[in-house]
Amino acid sequence: MSVENLGTRVRISWSDGVTHDFHPFWLRESSVDPQFRDPKTGHKLLDAEDIPLDVKVTEITQRDGTLDLQFSDGHSSSYSLDKLHQAAVHPRTDELIGKKILWDGSFSPSWYEQSELESQPAKLLALLNDIASLGFALVRGIPAELNGMARFIDQLGYMRITNNGGIEDIKALPSAKVYDLSMTPRALEPHCDNPYRVPQPGYTLLHCIRNDAQGGESALIDGLYVADRIRRDRPDLFEALSTVPIVFRYADDQAILEHTCPFLDVTEDGTVTHARFHGRCDQVTATDPAVLSKFYEARRMYSKIIMSDAAQLQFKLQPGEMFMVDNYRLFHARRGFRLDSGIRHMQQAYIDRDVVSSRQKTLLRDINAKPWKSRI
Ligand SMILES: [Fe+2]
Repeated sequence: MSVENLGTRVRISWSDGVTHDFHPFWLRESSVDPQFRDPKTGHKLLDAEDIPLDVKVTEITQRDGTLDLQFSDGHSSSYSLDKLHQAAVHPRTDELIGKKILWDGSFSPSWYEQSELESQPAKLLALLNDIASLGFALVRGIPAELNGMARFIDQLGYMRITNNGGIEDIKALPSAKVYDLSMTPRALEPHCDNPYRVPQPGYTLLHCIRNDAQGGESALIDGLYVADRIRRDRPDLFEALSTVPIVFRYADDQAILEHTCPFLDVTEDGTVTHARFHGRCDQVTATDPAVLSKFYEARRMYSKIIMSDAAQLQFKLQPGEMFMVDNYRLFHARRGFRLDSGIRHMQQAYIDRDVVSSRQKTLLRDINAKPWKSRI
């Protein structure tokens, strides 16, 4: 490898063929010297505005995977060459660590046991790694009682509280008390939860307390798999799904919740970071009819694949079983059930994305890391 100081840039070439130019100010501001940066939090202790804009690297010493740099403002710091390589090839953070695996209805998932998750941190990390790669995890052995899922949530951190509360009952109610279709016995088509909230709930947990009514099976669909198929077969429709703004909205006497965004969020490198689908509350913006014609065709294809048996992983939750799904990636559904044939009682809760991301990363750093605790 080689390091060249070109004055306005420092060029590093690694043996794997990667060459990257670093701005001297970027290097100076990235200093890990404990006088400049808190080693624990990684936060700067001094103001970057005090670094001269024309700061230069005046001296470079290379030793064992490290660069020692001396700067024109008198500061010096050591830099890990591995970290500089990472900054060159993968400058963004990953929300979760792990390669995404796309799946369809033929996928055979494995189950996690709540007792093992509690006694073996490596199992909890494996579950979080599944959330990263597959977007969901199945757990059994959770007490089939009200709020039994709190035991699972406590291992991760905190649940999200919304205007509907924390852990919510999902069971058919008398019509006067119904504020959501989930509280009726009717089938629920595949959807993500609450795309009208900002932020949309990150993860949805559905815990089964009782499920002996006829019907009521669950289905999960991988939105990334669906998006990938459309991108390969019809890039023009993928474009419509990722650009045309849609209003997602919910209103009742105590809440007005709305958000405008496309079905798919795609980064500039083509990664789909968020897939939405909610056929009950989407209203595409009244944009140009030619754009809308393409959009309607795109939504028809999107919906058709999502609704197809081939895309749906189907199962019936039994008492004590739970699924956790990435609500920015998966869609979930349930078949209708017959109220006269038994009882279907689920409980649902949401967890924010940073809770899950942080839990995985702290466990990767230290397998005995404890979940978030309140600091107050
Ligand atoms: Fe739902």
